[in-house]
Amino acid sequence: MPIERQRAESQIVTTAQQHILEQQEMHFPDAGGTFSWLLSGITLATRMVQAKIRQAGLLDVLGSAGETNVQGETQQKLDVYANQALLQCLSLRDSVAVLVSEENEEPVTFDRAVQTGKYVIFFDPLDGSSNIDVNVSVGTIFSIFRGPAKLEGDIKSAVLQPGSKQVAAGYVVYGSSTILVYTAGRGVFGFTLDPAVGTYVLSHDNLRMPQQGNMYSVNEAQAHTFPEVYQKYLCRLRTGALGREYSSRYVGSLVADFHRTILKGGVFIYPPTKGYPNGKLRLLYEANPLAFIAEQAGGLATDGQRPITEIQPHEIHQRTPLVVGSRVEVEDFLHCLRNGTA
Ligand code: AHG
Ligand code: MN
Ligand code: MN
Repeated sequence: MPIERQRAESQIVTTAQQHILEQQEMHFPDAGGTFSWLLSGITLATRMVQAKIRQAGLLDVLGSAGETNVQGETQQKLDVYANQALLQCLSLRDSVAVLVSEENEEPVTFDRAVQTGKYVIFFDPLDGSSNIDVNVSVGTIFSIFRGPAKLEGDIKSAVLQPGSKQVAAGYVVYGSSTILVYTAGRGVFGFTLDPAVGTYVLSHDNLRMPQQGNMYSVNEAQAHTFPEVYQKYLCRLRTGALGREYSSRYVGSLVADFHRTILKGGVFIYPPTKGYPNGKLRLLYEANPLAFIAEQAGGLATDGQRPITEIQPHEIHQRTPLVVGSRVEVEDFLHCLRNGTA
């Protein structure tokens, strides 16, 4: 094969935009371009956030914004910036009917004509905020639903759907490189940001989670307050009951811990604790999107009672316990639950 052709073929890249358009043509022909236009709003916002993060040490964007959010947590300046970037980019997409953010107590609604305002988007604009000032990976998480035909009455109840109804979900992890991972219900795909071009390029085609890993991820400091079955399960992992040795890895940014789990296998656990009896992680913009991605990649996600994606939400900021990861580890946890034994 002539060199030029080899070089040309080796440089054929698939951008996130192209991929999303292909997915849309294949699976959402009736979307008429609104779905890909919507996702382009998200990728644009994440590129704005990553640019700020890369300059964080130089610009005055580190540290607290001096406010607390609806969760009662101190907002970091980058929480506020990321939230504004997503609200701004998505409000310009007229297919968006409602936005629900971790940083906003109430949903943000748009007065759209019924036939255009189709989608409801939940997002955690900046996940892992406590790690920003110490230069540890953080992320953005999003979850997309089709809205009800007519948004009337109580918006909150209108948008509360089980995770199984998601049409798409994804996250961006701002780490040693910036990687976007998303699913539209037909597999999971990863794109690495090429900073020279400012474009997300396909790097993980049809991502599959290993059936079993060798790492578990939990905040060990809280272990004495976990329900007994969680403590027994962790003991199984530590003592080789699943047929292999495990290492403990905990970044403290859900997106970073999940990204490692989807690539290497294993399990991430945020149980009920003394401080968070219903778990700390939020169902609609943390657990649901990652559960959808995990399931699409061959993994599992449960709250200890049922699959995460089967939970019928009752509140937009509700919290849930989360056990998510490879089939072997999560099924062993469910076995421990059913038998109450380890
Ligand atoms: P956020 O920064 O969006 O509030 O999320 C923080 C979450 C999640 O990223 C992480 O897994 C968890 O908090 C860590 O909690 P602990 O510090 O209690 O372990
Ligand atoms: Mn978060
Ligand atoms: Mn957050």
